[in-house]
Amino acid sequence: MTVVTLHGAHALCSTASPAGGDAGPGQLPKAGPVCGLSCFCSEPMNDLTPLVQDAHADFAQAATPAELENAKARYLGKAGRITEHLKALGALAPDEKKARGALINAAKQQVEAALNARRDAMAQAELQAQLKGQSLDVSLPGRQRGMGSLHPTSRARERIETIFASMGFEVADGPEIETDWYSFTALNNPENHPARSMQDTFYVDVKDANGAWLNLRPHTSPMQIRYAQAHAKKYAGQASMPDIRVIAPGRTYRVDSDATHTPMFHQVEGLWVGENVSFKDLKFMYLDFIQAFFETKDVKLRFRPSYFPFTEPSAEIDIRFETGPLQGRWLEVSGSGQVHPQVIRNMGLDPERHIGFAFGSGIDRLAMLRYGMNDLRPLFEGDLRLLNQFI
Ligand code: DAH
Repeated sequence: MTVVTLHGAHALCSTASPAGGDAGPGQLPKAGPVCGLSCFCSEPMNDLTPLVQDAHADFAQAATPAELENAKARYLGKAGRITEHLKALGALAPDEKKARGALINAAKQQVEAALNARRDAMAQAELQAQLKGQSLDVSLPGRQRGMGSLHPTSRARERIETIFASMGFEVADGPEIETDWYSFTALNNPENHPARSMQDTFYVDVKDANGAWLNLRPHTSPMQIRYAQAHAKKYAGQASMPDIRVIAPGRTYRVDSDATHTPMFHQVEGLWVGENVSFKDLKFMYLDFIQAFFETKDVKLRFRPSYFPFTEPSAEIDIRFETGPLQGRWLEVSGSGQVHPQVIRNMGLDPERHIGFAFGSGIDRLAMLRYGMNDLRPLFEGDLRLLNQFI
């Protein structure tokens, strides 16, 4: 007698063969008894068939992997039903042993096959549940990678550095928290002198070695002194000294806030000191710079008399575009002048021998003009609608 499955491979019926005659789906075979599992097994029925049927039912009932392992132990564990049958083999005569052993092994294999099938089914179900939980909506827009870019002020600063470097200037950097001497006194701006109120300075709650409050530098001009001092020291005692030619861009601070002033802003200081440097050099050099910075020859320069304690004579530099949207208006871009003899002395140089000029330009102002902005404040607000235009 053989039994075959009606509905595909059953866990119990690993070797389905229609030995009992052809049976269509849903029909019983003409020959062969029906097993209790409503399937037809290729194994002949015997006294172990109920055990295999029980195992199958138990495994099917197990709802979790732990329950399945417990069910397995009831059949294949140390005191499991299959194991008990195997143990009982020892008491049989040798010729009975062989047949009985084969029978138990066949039942064991069927139980194992049922177990593995249930394990697989559980793993599949778990995977499906997981996939369902992590379902992906492929129609959602992808996550964008933010593209960084240089701030317009940084772009302007890099441009300035590149242009001046091409004209033989060094680029120097210095402290933003300064001493009173470097910010004012060394620049011929003595204590209690009214010219100090030209800049409404931020002070830091710490005093320097001379008992003066430190300040957030109100301009980049202290860098003239710092750089020139180091240069003078380097060439002290030598017959000649190469010209000082430096720019010092960086952050500066003043108690000031309106459409064209922010408490923190950027300046670039320029200094050229040698034995034969004149205002004429300043004029040509600055015109070259402006033409390169704005990429146009259609621009004029004007020096307007002014006052700074550290230069004599002093001048504001105005520019005027002959074409474009800013055409025809004089625009102030820089302070400048011939370095005051007292400042030359404070640099550690001899004003009888050394002469030169200096300038201090607003980097944000230059950026505004270059990028066609009429308000300085957006440069400091971090608004992406502005910044995204510079990617
Ligand atoms: N330090 C000045 C300011 O902040 C600008 C300036 C004017 C710098 C004349 C200079 C200069 O080097 O020669 O307003």
